[in-house]
Amino acid sequence: MVDPNAQSSAVQNLKQRTARKGASKGGVVMTTQINESELEAQFAATIGAKDRIEPRDWMPEKYRKTVVRQVAQHAHSEIIGMQPEGNWISRAPSLRRKAILLAKVQDEAGHGLYLYSAAETLGASRDELTEKLIAGKQKYSSIFNYPTLAYTDVGTIGWLVDGAAIVNQVPLCRTSFGPYGRAMIRVCKEESFHQRQGYELLMTMMRGTDEQRASVQESVNRFWWPALMMFGPPDDDSPNTEQSMEWGIKTHTNDELRQKFVDMSVPQAEALGVTFPDEGLKWNEERGHYDFSTPDWDEFWSVVKGNGPCNDQRVAHRKRAWDEGAWVRDAALAFAENSAVDSAPTDSPETPTADTADTTAEEAAK
Ligand SMILES: [Fe+2]
Ligand SMILES: [Fe+2]
Repeated sequence: MVDPNAQSSAVQNLKQRTARKGASKGGVVMTTQINESELEAQFAATIGAKDRIEPRDWMPEKYRKTVVRQVAQHAHSEIIGMQPEGNWISRAPSLRRKAILLAKVQDEAGHGLYLYSAAETLGASRDELTEKLIAGKQKYSSIFNYPTLAYTDVGTIGWLVDGAAIVNQVPLCRTSFGPYGRAMIRVCKEESFHQRQGYELLMTMMRGTDEQRASVQESVNRFWWPALMMFGPPDDDSPNTEQSMEWGIKTHTNDELRQKFVDMSVPQAEALGVTFPDEGLKWNEERGHYDFSTPDWDEFWSVVKGNGPCNDQRVAHRKRAWDEGAWVRDAALAFAENSAVDSAPTDSPETPTADTADTTAEEAAK
């Protein structure tokens, strides 16, 4: 929801900026016509200096669309990503594990909301973006189209999926679009907690029975390749990467981040006592990185196109929640409108008498 105070200060800022841009000579404000190429030069200079682009700044239409698309896809991933783990809240094995999982899933809802708010600064409303998600016109991370078959998957998702999200998102704290970068700072702190809780859960299970250890290995086997695919297609098959890097929206390529994730995860797997299902995974002394096999990109594209194991279920569930929540949104909107009318300043700002103060308190209590 838009804070009316923030909106009025935003309008004030805009007026101040406009006034500054107008040349003031002899007390007369002249309107300056800034042409497109000057605006483009200003935009390029801001990007070049690694400064932020803010919502009210001029930006190329393609930049605006790219940011909205990326932020929307990220927001949708946070919200849809609540489903696979939400599946285990009622069956978590203890009150402690249930509280941890609830807090984690709730964090993901918060991440979605920060991101929808960031997109909203560019004029893309949450309603509009959610409608596009439900209609299949916007995507979310393909990882969430895989099922959670065991409670162990909660640990594996925390370790590998939130771990991959951190590798993806830490560089985004410095992305060129201000509201997106600032949202990422808090998101990354929370993702860090998510990853640790997942790793701790798996570590606890690895100290348990043979059956529990086997369950961890089985879960890791299922999630390893989809986690690697979270970084997106290989660089030579990622048409948007080059432009996004020029604009500072992306700061690393998909393959760079994937390599970073592999290098980071192998020692963690060794400490845990599990292996990754890849015979080609080995340290390359010359490169100073782990080599690994090529993920099954046919599977990746098939899941992206809607044919993963849970695509239909995820979107249907989101649609149901959105439809069933319509009355809550309507009620919140009506309440906000009524509150705005009640708190609007009147023409005669008299000090309220004891009588009127009582009436207001009574009305509020109704
Ligand atoms: Fe998240
Ligand atoms: Fe997370």
